[in-house]
Amino acid sequence: MDDQTIAPLFSCENLSLDLGGREILREIDLEIKPGEVLGIIGPNGAGKTSLLEILSGRYRPKTGNVFYKGKNINDSHLYQRARMGIGRTYQTPVVPEDLTVGETFKAARQAYKPYLTRFDAEYAADLVDFVVDDSVLNTQLKTFNRRKLLLANILMKKPELLLMDEPAAGLINSEIDEIDEILRMLSKEMNIAVIIVEHRIELLDTIADRVIVMDAGEIIAKGALSEIIDSPEVRAAYFEM
Ligand SMILES: Nc1ncnc2c1ncn2[C@@H]1O[C@H](COP(=O)(O)OP(=O)(O)OP(=O)(O)O)[C@@H](O)[C@H]1O
Ligand SMILES: [Mg+2]
Repeated sequence: MDDQTIAPLFSCENLSLDLGGREILREIDLEIKPGEVLGIIGPNGAGKTSLLEILSGRYRPKTGNVFYKGKNINDSHLYQRARMGIGRTYQTPVVPEDLTVGETFKAARQAYKPYLTRFDAEYAADLVDFVVDDSVLNTQLKTFNRRKLLLANILMKKPELLLMDEPAAGLINSEIDEIDEILRMLSKEMNIAVIIVEHRIELLDTIADRVIVMDAGEIIAKGALSEIIDSPEVRAAYFEM
């Protein structure tokens, strides 16, 4: 989707970040339009998760700005960005340990103002083929269902942008196919923009409209996956570590 007439939904410019006295990110620019899927790849430690931390509002950048719907949201915290429609999933799907699935949805519904209904929860769960079950403890769920539970909780709030950190980590191939279908439906049918950090090239190959490649805190390539994957910089950084 490279229609120049569609304004970006979300963008950042010149982001840099230091942690523990080290430069972690330098001069990061990106933008995404409604319904677009932007993949982020790069070797371990490249700074992919740190970038999502800034984009979601958990970390403040040293320099640079983040824009959503044309507004500078640098001063908005994680929870404020969540209310604006920016959802975030994490590399490790951490679920509340002492709650059932039903109680988790209820807590998430009641954390939202105005409260969401049970129908909102069931609708969101259905989108990812998950069941709001009062008799199942979160701790009984396997990795894939933990990811679905957390994603459904975000979808209840009708996000317009999802920031996803390795949604296929720890999944088997049939589950990755299902994630692929879910992400395609969210982006192409519900027009949700998705920024997805992912090591599984085969997943990005089918769903990402564009990718950016990061190495050592910088963007070293951007474009269609098929066009950049064989470039010497990308091979050197990503495949020949
Ligand atoms: N809180 C922190 N304090 C200091 N350094 C940190 C902190 N968090 C991350 N780093 C460092 O920042 C760099 C980028 O880490 P980050 O987790 O963003 O990489 P990543 O690309 O997500 O890696 P992976 O593919 O392993 O998930 C790494 O060198 C990491 O050690
Ligand atoms: Mg990471």
